[in-house]
Amino acid sequence: MNKTILITGASGLIGNALAHQLKSSGHTIKSLSRSGDGLNWDLERGTISDGAFDGIDAVVHLAGAPIAQRWTDKAKRDILDSRVKGTQLLVDAILKLPKPPAFISASGANYYGYRRKELVDESASSGDGFLADVCQAWEATAQPLTDKSIRTVFMRTSIVLSAEGGALAKMLPPFKMGVGGRIGSGDQKMSWISLPDLVDLYQFAIEDPGLHGPVNAAAPKPVSNKTFTKELGKALGRPTFIPLPTAVVKTLFGEMGKETVLADLGLIPKKATDLGFEWQTPDLASALLKVL
Ligand SMILES: NC(=O)c1ccc[n+]([C@@H]2O[C@H](COP(=O)([O-])OP(=O)(O)OC[C@H]3O[C@@H](n4cnc5c(N)ncnc54)[C@H](OP(=O)(O)O)[C@@H]3O)[C@@H](O)[C@H]2O)c1
Repeated sequence: MNKTILITGASGLIGNALAHQLKSSGHTIKSLSRSGDGLNWDLERGTISDGAFDGIDAVVHLAGAPIAQRWTDKAKRDILDSRVKGTQLLVDAILKLPKPPAFISASGANYYGYRRKELVDESASSGDGFLADVCQAWEATAQPLTDKSIRTVFMRTSIVLSAEGGALAKMLPPFKMGVGGRIGSGDQKMSWISLPDLVDLYQFAIEDPGLHGPVNAAAPKPVSNKTFTKELGKALGRPTFIPLPTAVVKTLFGEMGKETVLADLGLIPKKATDLGFEWQTPDLASALLKVL
């Protein structure tokens, strides 16, 4: 059945691709942005355009300040506040609606922390670090919806592979020049998901009322950074002999580097697998072939 979906952050990497796919599947999309001619919201003032929630079946909440920036105190405040305040505004509005829509929100794989020995499914405990704190606060802000039995989904999203943006797009220039290589020891586990699979998973979450709570948005086969580096070099036909030492990452990126590119984190997408979600690109080689 065709649905009407309100998306925040639809101008971003994931939102843009998701809005296109949902439209071509026959759904109606309303976009909620900080600027532009359409529906707007202002997180500081706590306002949302009139009519934003009219006829809405689901809200997909993707908006948030970029993670990949130097984590000054102000940047960290923006990263946290943009997610918590945005969620709070939506939750308050949804709770007032006579027929509340499903609430499907981005979250991060870093919910589980940045250093886990074991592979983690959705039942695993939360972890340590700034991003883990952000993800926990982000998800907790939507708890009043769950308390009222309104369907909520949190996409604990791993590294999204796309040539158009995100981590892979940033890695492409050095790798194409043949000066790419493993990061740190290269032994750290990396979870990843191709953008086409992530968009399918969001669509699955919108259309399947059986999906609720946290969902690991990660392909079923995490790899080590060494393997990722080798596969990316192979896909581009370039050598990958020049490693980026841990000390350089820490100098260049500080705390952000420690919790992202140096993170040792492998996710199992148990819920998606149990519900029969079909991956377009379950392994890294096919994902790189698809997105590059
Ligand atoms: N891409 C990844 O690898 C990845 C991995 C894990 C989790 N996620 C999460 O998934 C969500 C979507 O990711 P994405 O890669 O599509 O993000 P993105 O490209 O950076 O887009 C996010 C959108 O959020 C809005 N935004 C930016 N700064 C904001 C601020 N300070 N306050 C409020 N809104 C702001 C913007 O929309 P408007 O300008 O239209 O308001 C922007 O288009 C994010 O919350 C991200 O943390 C992404």
